[in-house]
Amino acid sequence: MSHDPPPEQQTPRLMPPGPLAHPLGAPLVRRDARDKATGSARYAAEHTPPGCAYAWPVPATVARGRITELDIGGALALPGVIAVLTHENAPRLASTDDPTLALLQEDRVPHRGWYIALAVAETLEVARDAADAVHVTYATDGHDVQLTADHPGLYVPERVNGDFPAVRERGDFDAAFAAAPATVDATYTVPPLHNHPMEPHAATARWSNGHLTVHDSSQGATKVREDLAALFKLGTDEITVISEHVGGGFGSKGTPRPQVVLAAMAARHTGRPVKLALPRRQLPAVVGHRAPTVQRVRIGAGRDGVITALAHESVTHTSTVTEFVEQAAVPARVMYTSPNSRTAHRVVALDVPTPSWMRAPGEAPGMYALESAVDELAALLDIDPVELRIRNDPATEPDSGRPFSSRHLADCLREGAERFGWQPRDPRPAVRRHGDLLLGTGVAAATYPVYIGATQAEAHAAADGGYRIRVNATDIGTGARTVLAQIAAAALGVPEDRVRVDIGSSDLPPAMLAGGSAGTASWGWAVHKACTALLARLRDREGPLPAEGITATEDTRLETAERSPYSRHAFGAVFAEVQADSRTGEIRVRRLLGQYAAGRILNPRTARSQFIGGLTMGLGMALTEGSSLDPAFGDFTACDLASYHVPAHADVPSVEAYWLDEEDPHLNPMGSKGIGEIGIVGTAAAIGNAVWHATGARLRDLPLTPDRLL
Ligand code: MOS
Repeated sequence: MSHDPPPEQQTPRLMPPGPLAHPLGAPLVRRDARDKATGSARYAAEHTPPGCAYAWPVPATVARGRITELDIGGALALPGVIAVLTHENAPRLASTDDPTLALLQEDRVPHRGWYIALAVAETLEVARDAADAVHVTYATDGHDVQLTADHPGLYVPERVNGDFPAVRERGDFDAAFAAAPATVDATYTVPPLHNHPMEPHAATARWSNGHLTVHDSSQGATKVREDLAALFKLGTDEITVISEHVGGGFGSKGTPRPQVVLAAMAARHTGRPVKLALPRRQLPAVVGHRAPTVQRVRIGAGRDGVITALAHESVTHTSTVTEFVEQAAVPARVMYTSPNSRTAHRVVALDVPTPSWMRAPGEAPGMYALESAVDELAALLDIDPVELRIRNDPATEPDSGRPFSSRHLADCLREGAERFGWQPRDPRPAVRRHGDLLLGTGVAAATYPVYIGATQAEAHAAADGGYRIRVNATDIGTGARTVLAQIAAAALGVPEDRVRVDIGSSDLPPAMLAGGSAGTASWGWAVHKACTALLARLRDREGPLPAEGITATEDTRLETAERSPYSRHAFGAVFAEVQADSRTGEIRVRRLLGQYAAGRILNPRTARSQFIGGLTMGLGMALTEGSSLDPAFGDFTACDLASYHVPAHADVPSVEAYWLDEEDPHLNPMGSKGIGEIGIVGTAAAIGNAVWHATGARLRDLPLTPDRLL
């Protein structure tokens, strides 16, 4: 058995001196890599309690109306069917702040795909047959699913996602824009986008002696437990939510979703454990989507490229169920100096599924529009687009005047340009030919805010010299266990393999969800604090540890409630090289390179994977991903992976990610910013700008499919 150095030799600093290989910044392999690669890591649908029944949901087939008749007789007559839940017989739920979870409570159908029944059977196959055998009659009302920039129902919401004000004005935009020697006025559209994580939303629920236990595919089991407690009028101590391994979410699992509520209802109704994995084709209607946006960007500048007027106005949709407003114009409040600016959002409530978070909500679509418009300005003024951005790099946050905690956008642009081989670049469009292919390069900036959420963590020193961290963090594929072990080991001054990390259960201390690129920073801060407290306790005591060891529990409620005097954001620059086939209109990315400044990178292996994943998702947003709403039937037209095209390996020849060593003392004890979302930001604009450089065509509607080019 190995022993720690005596506690008094340890220091509660993050970077302990001494012979230990420093665990922070080490490219450690994920602790669960082998389990995941071999299939022994189990996901929510892979738990099968004895006596488990299977459920299959029934989606509404009209876009707006009421259920007038529900005939479940045929379904119940099928051998092996246990129950069919409807609004007439399902358990009554209390209401919560999330109306999308008020499932099977009333006859109203607010959008196509809304769940109206749930079949429960002995097998998955029978459950599916039973769902098909449910006969529904509706009274329909006329529906409207078409977002237009002049929709009569558009209104200015009070707040947009992220709790930002919908409208901000500084100076006199109209006068400054009218007086500007150079102006760009362009409108960009982003279609509805679907999260489509590899693992669909799934839950397995069982009640035992009044205690509800669910395995749920979620980015944050703490909130799932809170919402289940509210819905079923239980104490949180009567519920356990386990999200041990999660196969991606991209925001769609950031809040509780229908599968967990329906599985718990069905388990209560039938007295059996119930498993429910939402079919892929049903996901777009019930787990959120990135709402489409129509964004008008106007920039006025001097001949020197210095921006004097900037307006970013976004129009989007929400559902009639609840208001969610994609905050696409918010990044324009942070990016560039302009004494006169207007950033505004309007929204219309349509008969559509409720939109929600999708990787970099706000920033991803907003920076597509803004960074495309900046490129148009660069072309107009014949100023290099890297240089133009550097000329407009503000000293303080334009919107608030607050100093940046750190802002290395200009360094990212310069260093990225160097690595990419940006210069020498002929700025003229459509002059590089390689046979039938037109070649071009483009650049765009990226940004993402630093968020942080209150978290509690427990650090335990065992008598045998081992350590254990307990915190309800979630690993959605990011390597959370590994990086938390690194943070704990650094704080404790012990080798990383001496630290066990327990995450993924609501029975652990409550934590921030894995979202807003804030997981590692939020959990890590609490872990660091608990480890520091544990070390102090170890130092204060004499003699060997008691058999049960010693535990310290700390939370970051106070620290995270404080508003920082600094504007805190990660920044980056994305460079793309594309080829456009002049015969077919096909656009392919030849190279994609992201250069980031995101504080200290805690594990380069897992961080690189996050950046590259984001860049790849941005490539999909640029070229292949896009849904639409069918005006006649009101449903999404691209619901499965055959119709909604995410990039495949052949679409991604070279994607590189680099970062600066950024020191920022105004963040958290690790000095880290979030990295989960910034990779997607700016990528679509960089590719679109490269397409213009290649072809001379300014395409302003995503995705850039061949038909748009021809
Ligand atoms: Mo992310 S869209 O905050 O899960």
